[in-house]
Amino acid sequence: MNLRRSFILGTTALLILAGCQGTTRNARYDARTEREIERLLSQMTLAEKIGQTNQLSSYGTAEAMHDVIAEGKVGSILNEVDPYTINAMQRIAVEESRLGIPLIIGRDVIHGFRTVFPIPLGLAATFDPELVEQGARIAALEATASGVRWTFSPMLDISRDARWGRIAESSGEDTYLNKVMGTAMVRGYQGGGAGDPTCMAACAKHFVGYGAAEGGRDYNSTNIPPRQMRNVYLPPFEACIVDAGAMTLMTSFNDNDGIPATGNTHLLTDVLRKEWGFDGMVVTDWNSAGEMIAHGFADDGKDAARKAINAGVDMDMMSHTFGLNLEELIAEGKVDEGRLDDAVRNILRLKFRLGLFDDPYVDADAARDACYTEENLAAAYRSAAESAVLLRNENNTLPLDASKLRRVLVTGPLADAPYEQLGTWTFDGEASHTVTPLAALRETYGDRIAFVFEPAMATSRSRMSAAQLAAVTAKAAQCDAVLVFAGEEAILSGEAHCLADLNLQGSQSDLIAAARRSGRPVVTVIMAGRPLTVKRDLGNMDALLYSFHPGTMGGPAIADILFGKVSPSGKLPATFPVAAGQIPMHYNRNMTGRPASGTEVLLDDIVPGAGQTSLGCSSYMLDTGFAPLFPFGYGLSYTTFEYSRPELDAESYSADGTIRAACTLRNSGSRDAEEVVQLYVRDMVGSVTRPIKELKAFRRVAVPAGETVRVEIELPVAELAFWNIDMERTVEPGEFRLWMAGDSDSGEYATFHVK
Ligand code: NOJ
Repeated sequence: MNLRRSFILGTTALLILAGCQGTTRNARYDARTEREIERLLSQMTLAEKIGQTNQLSSYGTAEAMHDVIAEGKVGSILNEVDPYTINAMQRIAVEESRLGIPLIIGRDVIHGFRTVFPIPLGLAATFDPELVEQGARIAALEATASGVRWTFSPMLDISRDARWGRIAESSGEDTYLNKVMGTAMVRGYQGGGAGDPTCMAACAKHFVGYGAAEGGRDYNSTNIPPRQMRNVYLPPFEACIVDAGAMTLMTSFNDNDGIPATGNTHLLTDVLRKEWGFDGMVVTDWNSAGEMIAHGFADDGKDAARKAINAGVDMDMMSHTFGLNLEELIAEGKVDEGRLDDAVRNILRLKFRLGLFDDPYVDADAARDACYTEENLAAAYRSAAESAVLLRNENNTLPLDASKLRRVLVTGPLADAPYEQLGTWTFDGEASHTVTPLAALRETYGDRIAFVFEPAMATSRSRMSAAQLAAVTAKAAQCDAVLVFAGEEAILSGEAHCLADLNLQGSQSDLIAAARRSGRPVVTVIMAGRPLTVKRDLGNMDALLYSFHPGTMGGPAIADILFGKVSPSGKLPATFPVAAGQIPMHYNRNMTGRPASGTEVLLDDIVPGAGQTSLGCSSYMLDTGFAPLFPFGYGLSYTTFEYSRPELDAESYSADGTIRAACTLRNSGSRDAEEVVQLYVRDMVGSVTRPIKELKAFRRVAVPAGETVRVEIELPVAELAFWNIDMERTVEPGEFRLWMAGDSDSGEYATFHVK
C-alpha cells in the first residue's frame, strides 16, 4: 500500500499499513528470456563470457574503446553520459562484436542526474517516500534519455557517524528509514521495470556494513557481529532486493570481522542468493576485488579474482583481475566454469530485463529535452523545501515579515555558491542551472527588500581578520536583519572526505558572532553534507535552518521558508551530537546496565581531590553529558503541534496480529503546516538486550491551523521481530511500549503485550 499524503480536516482518520510500502516486484521470471540466455551462453567462448564480467570506465570516446568492445572484452562501461558516444559504443557492441551483446552503461546518479535533488541525507529528512520515489523517477527519466541504464544507488549504509563523509549519501542512522527510502528510490529508478525503456537498474550498495567504518575513516574495517548485522545492517538490503526488486547489488570496500565484503561467500551466496533468492547481478565496488590484496586477504590479482567470483561476484568494476585471470583459474580448476556461467547469466538477464537487446540506442538529439523540465524543477523545489530542518527559532524570528524589512544583509560562503549547494556526487549536475539563496531572495523578494550581499568568506574554510569581521558587524548594523549562509563546500563530505572535527570550518563561527554583535536578528542557514556540531554557535543565532546540501532548487526553497511561504517540516535523519567525541551516537542504542538520566555530575561539578567511586555512576561523558544536541527525528515548525498519548485497540496481541495505534494531533498554532508523526516501539525485555526505541512507522500529515486530526497507524506485530538469542527472527512475547511523537525523544507511551 502506498503512503498517500492527504490534507485532512477535523477528525478524519488516517490509516496506513506500516512496513508494507508499495513495491515493484522483482521482474517476473520470464521463461523466454531464460531460453534466450541459455541460447546465447551456449554460443559464447570462454573469453566472451569473461568479457561480460568486465566493467571498464569510459576512455572518453567510442573510437578509443573500439577494439575492446568489438572483441567482446567488456560487458559494461561506467562514467559515460554523452548520448552520442553511448550510441556509438552500443553500435560497436551490437554490430561489430561476434554475438552482438549490448553494453550496459552505468553511472553514479545518486540524487539526480542534471536536475539535482537534495543529497540522500536531505531526502531522508523529508520523511516523504512518495516524493523521494518521484525524485528517483525523474533522475531515471533524465539519465536514461542519455543512455545511462544503471545507477549505483541507493546507498543503504546505516550511518551513525557524522565524521564519515559518506553519511551524506545515506538515509542516516535508522534501519527502518533506510528501508523506506531505499525501496522508494528503487521503485523510482526502475519505473515500470523489465521492458520499460526508462527503467534505470538500481544498485543496492554497499553490501554491507560500510557505514560502520572504524573511527569514521572511509574504507576502514568494520566489526559488526552477526546479530547486529541481521537486525541493523541487512534489513534495508533485504527490502530493496526482495520487496522492491533492485536489479543489482554492489559489494563494499570494508572487511567485516576480517572478511572483505567482495570475498564474503556467506553474505553474497548464502544470504543474498539462497535466503533472499536474488537473481540479479552483483558488481564489485571500484577495484574492491583488487583491494583484497592490500587487505592482506588475497596473494595477488589472480587470488583476488578467485576469491571474488567464488564468493558470488558477477562483474568486476575496474580491478581487471577477472579479465586477466579467470581463463587460467578455470583451466586450473580453481574456479568452476559453472560459476562463471551463472555470473554471465545474471549479467545477460539484466540486459534482457532492461530491453537492451531490443533497442540499445537513444534519441541523442532529444536527450537534453528530458532535463530541467518544469515538473522536474518543481519536484526538486519541493524536495529541498521538505528536507530543510528548523532547529532553532527564538521568539519566532522566522518566518521573516517582508513588510517589516527594508535592508537585509546576506553573508556567508554558501549564500551564492551554486556548485557547493549541489553537494557530493553530482558529476552531471550543472552549477549554471542552480538557483542560489541570494538569487532566489533577490528574484522573489527583491522588489520589497534590498539584499546587501557581503560574502565575507570565499569558501567555508577561509579565514577572516578582526578588521574584516568588524566590517561585517558594521554592515549588519545598517540592516534590519542578517542572513548568514554557512556550512560545508560540497567537497568536504562524500567519499573519502571524513573529518575528525565537526565544528563549522574556517572563520564561520566568528562570522556568525560578528553578525550577532550588530544587535540585529541573526538567521543562520547551514548547508552541509553531514550533521555538524553547532553547539558553540547556537547562542549567536536567533534561528537556525539546517539544509543538507539542497541541490538545484535549494535557493528558492530556502527563500520561501525564510519568508514563510512554506513552513519547515523536515526531521533529522541522524542524531546531532554535542561534540564529535560522543560519536557513534544514535537514538536506538541499548539501555545499558547504567543508563544516564541527565542528573549526572559534570566536569565543573567535581570538587578538587574528589575520591573515586563507581557507585551511582552511569553511561555519559563528563564534558558533554549523555544527551545529543538534537535527537533523531527532531525538527521544528512555524506552528506548534500537540500530541495526545497514543491509544491502542487492544492490550495484548498475538504474534500474527495487527496493532492499531492512534493519536490526536492538534495544530495549536496559527499556520497550516505539515508534521511527521513518528511511531516508536520498545521491547521491554528480550532474550538479548533491545534498543531503547525503534522507529517502526511514520506518517507525514498536513494539519490546518487550529485543527485536530486523528492519526491511525496499523502495525503488524510481525514488524516487531528481531534476531534473538538463538539467531532466529522472531517476535518474543512480553511487554512493549509504543510512542507516537514528533521526534525520538518526546511523547507519552502506551503499553501493550504480545502473547
Ligand atoms: C566507488 C564508490 O564507493 C561507489 O559508491 C561508486 O558507485 C563507485 N566508486 C563507482 O563510481
